[in-house]
Amino acid sequence: MPNCKSVYEPREDSTMLEAWVKKYAFGKVLDMGTGSGIQAIAAAQKSNVKSVLAVDVQRGVIEYCRKNIKNKKIKFMQSDLFGRIKEKFNTIIFNPPYLPQELKLKDLTIEGGKKGYEVIEKFLNEANNFLNSDGIILMAFSSLTMKDKVDGFIKNNMLDFEELDKMHIFFEDIYFFLLTKNEFLKKLENKGISGIKYFAKGHRGLLFTGTYKKIKIVIKTKNSESTAYGRIENEAKWLKKLNRLKIGPKLLLFDNGYFIYEFIAGDFILDYLKKSDAKGIRKIIRKIFNQLFILDKLKIDKEEMHHPVKHILVRKGKPYMIDFERTHYSQKPKNVTQFCQFLMSGSVNEILRNKKNYGGKNSIIQLAKIYKNEPSNCNLNTLINSILK
Ligand SMILES: Nc1ncnc2c1ncn2[C@@H]1O[C@H](COP(=O)(O)OP(=O)(O)OP(=O)(O)O)[C@@H](O)[C@H]1O
Ligand SMILES: C[S@@+](CC[C@H](N)C(=O)[O-])C[C@H]1O[C@@H](n2cnc3c(N)ncnc32)[C@H](O)[C@@H]1O
Ligand SMILES: [Mg+2]
Repeated sequence: MPNCKSVYEPREDSTMLEAWVKKYAFGKVLDMGTGSGIQAIAAAQKSNVKSVLAVDVQRGVIEYCRKNIKNKKIKFMQSDLFGRIKEKFNTIIFNPPYLPQELKLKDLTIEGGKKGYEVIEKFLNEANNFLNSDGIILMAFSSLTMKDKVDGFIKNNMLDFEELDKMHIFFEDIYFFLLTKNEFLKKLENKGISGIKYFAKGHRGLLFTGTYKKIKIVIKTKNSESTAYGRIENEAKWLKKLNRLKIGPKLLLFDNGYFIYEFIAGDFILDYLKKSDAKGIRKIIRKIFNQLFILDKLKIDKEEMHHPVKHILVRKGKPYMIDFERTHYSQKPKNVTQFCQFLMSGSVNEILRNKKNYGGKNSIIQLAKIYKNEPSNCNLNTLINSILK
């Protein structure tokens, strides 16, 4: 067998996966982490397989394959996962490395990152963009890789799975999964959204990024673990209203159970305050207060403005509030006063004092109270001027 020591000699996992490849592979095939080329060869032998691209991160593996495998249907390429790949496939095969690096074997054929699942995670986060709408992924992985983690990556990436088989070898179970794009992902792709990638999971929302009409967007949908009701609809409704007042990222599309809005490539408010000079800080804080004042005037409460560290982004000198899921009408909205609380809190207070921007806690409390009793433009200005010396 292999004369290159970094070629993975086919084991039970390889031959078992090979059987599934023989059954399911079709069309244009990508064999990720080809090793000995066993999966690529199995796929190429099928009459319904048009071509196979066999990829491996290790140069030695690719050299070995080029020398030893002569099959007109198979092309070889060195690439770190999808790094150098530019096309889409009907079938993607992956028998990944999955052992934790703690074992310090320094062996890319079997080590899948520090925890063991990093290569699989990266693969699943990218795979969709290289898979046709009706495409399939045939993947093996071990119980040593923390199955819960892998299940999470699959779900986060809008994939459905079928467990084809489970094989017990010594002290581990090997799973064989067939993955397909779920209906939601297909729906988004049909709307013209491309490059969809898992972005973040909040308590209530599950977020993806993508590209829509050439701009970077966020897709927000419900986190299935959340029991909250109607938050997505509420947020989309408010974004639409507030956009007319030039507040919030632009809402681009709202459909059943999800909405699409502009991605803000900016700094979170605390990071912005830390790196900006006194003049920049003064400008931004004033702009934030102006937006909050508009909300107060319209009797709209955004909520959570006493701790907006993850809810205000600053891009090109403009602040963008995000996350309007709890926004509602209120007789006594607290946007401005809550933001005052934030500016007086420990970490912010210190930043402002260091930049010599700060008027002092006592006067802010006094003036915030006056504003609270009478939320007028004049009281707001006095308050802002006392904060920003
Ligand atoms: N339009 C956007 N542009 C850039 N980043 C965004 C945008 N929308 C959301 N994010 C990022 O995604 C994270 C989660 O978004 P959001 O707060 O709306 O979700 P959530 O599920 O309501 O979260 P939480 O449970 O923490 O309230 C934000 O903290 C921010 O980092
Ligand atoms: C467990 S072996 C599987 C080999 C073969 N496909 C099989 O089924 O026997 C994993 C293969 O993935 C390759 N690999 C590891 N990390 C990779 C990465 N980031 N990109 C591409 N290939 C990678 C390794 O070099 C190795 O050949
Ligand atoms: Mg939220």
